Amino acid sequence: MSVKENVLKVLENRRDNFISGEDLAKNLGVSRNAVWKAVKSLQNEGYDINAVTNKGYCLLSNSDVISTMGIKKYLKNSENYDIKVYKTLSSTNTVAKEMASKGVKEGTVIVAEEQTAGRGRQGKTFYSPSKTGVYMSIILRPKITAEQSLNITTASAVAVCKVIEEVCNRPAKIKWVNDVYCDDKKVCGILTEASFGLESGYIEYVVLGIGINVKPPKNGFPDDINDIASYVTQIQTTDVRNKIIAKVIEYFWDYYLKLSEMTYFDEYRKRNILVGRDVYILKSDNKVQAKAIGIDENCGLIVENENGRQILTAGEVSIKLD
Ligand code: BTN
Repeated sequence: MSVKENVLKVLENRRDNFISGEDLAKNLGVSRNAVWKAVKSLQNEGYDINAVTNKGYCLLSNSDVISTMGIKKYLKNSENYDIKVYKTLSSTNTVAKEMASKGVKEGTVIVAEEQTAGRGRQGKTFYSPSKTGVYMSIILRPKITAEQSLNITTASAVAVCKVIEEVCNRPAKIKWVNDVYCDDKKVCGILTEASFGLESGYIEYVVLGIGINVKPPKNGFPDDINDIASYVTQIQTTDVRNKIIAKVIEYFWDYYLKLSEMTYFDEYRKRNILVGRDVYILKSDNKVQAKAIGIDENCGLIVENENGRQILTAGEVSIKLD
C-alpha cells in the first residue's frame, strides 16, 4: 500500500479523532513530510481532513468520499472481496465485463464515484452524477444456467431494499423485476449481464450492476426522469455511501451463497408494488393494459386482462404503472 493509502486507513479507523503527524509518521515508518504530502493529496481528492497545529490530523465523520478503505471498514469478511474504486468510469458494468473476460476472480467489485455512460436495461442510460450516488458492479462466476441467473437480479433487489431500510431508515419496495422504489419513486436500478460458454451453455461470468441514487443530485435529475426518480436520503453530510456499498455486498452475498434455495423469495414477493395494480405491458411497439395479480415461484409476474391470464418473464417486457 502507498503512504497515502496507509494514512487514509489510519484516519478512517479513527474518524473525528486527531492523531499527530509525528505519531502517524512513526506508525507508518515514513517521514512527517511524507505524511503531510499524503494528507494534502487526500484533501485535494475531497476528503474532509482537519489539519490543526499541535493536534495533527483528523478525518471528519461527515467526509463522504468512496474508497476501498472506507468500504472495507463496514464490510464483514472483507478479505473475500477485491474492491476497486475509481473516480470516473464510462460504466462500471462495461469495465467489469472487460475484467471478467480477462479472468479476474469472483468477488471483484468495481465502484465509481461517477459514470459518464451509465447503462440501464433495454438500452436506456442511467444518470450517474458524481458525489451523490453509488455505482457498483460485482463480478460473479456461478455454476448455474441462464434461467437460474434471474435469481441473482431478484436477490440483489431484496438486498438493496434491506440496506436502504437499515442504513437510511426508509421503507423500500420493488417494482417488478428489479427496480427499487421509495415512496413510489425509483431510487435504484439493477442491470445484470452475463457471458455464456458457447458449448457448455453454462455461465462464464455474471456482472451484477447496481446504481443507487443516494443523495439529491447537485443539479437535480434530468427532465425526462425528474418525475419518477428520487433518492434515499436528504442528508448531504454523512459517510453513507461507503456503508451502503459494504452492506449491499454483504446482504447480497448471503443470498448468493444459497441462491438455489431462494431464501430471499418471501421478501421479494412481499415487497412488490405491482400486485393489485393496473399496469401497461410494453413489448416492442405494443402497449397492453392488464392487472397484476401475483408473483409466481420463479419471480414471474402474473397478469390478467380480457384475454386471460399470463405469466410474464423478465427481459421479455417492461411494465409501466397505470
Ligand atoms: C435500470 O434502471 O434500467 C438499470 C440501471 C443499472 C445502473 C447500474 S449503475 C452501475 C452499473 N453500471 C452501469 O452502467 N449500469 C449499472
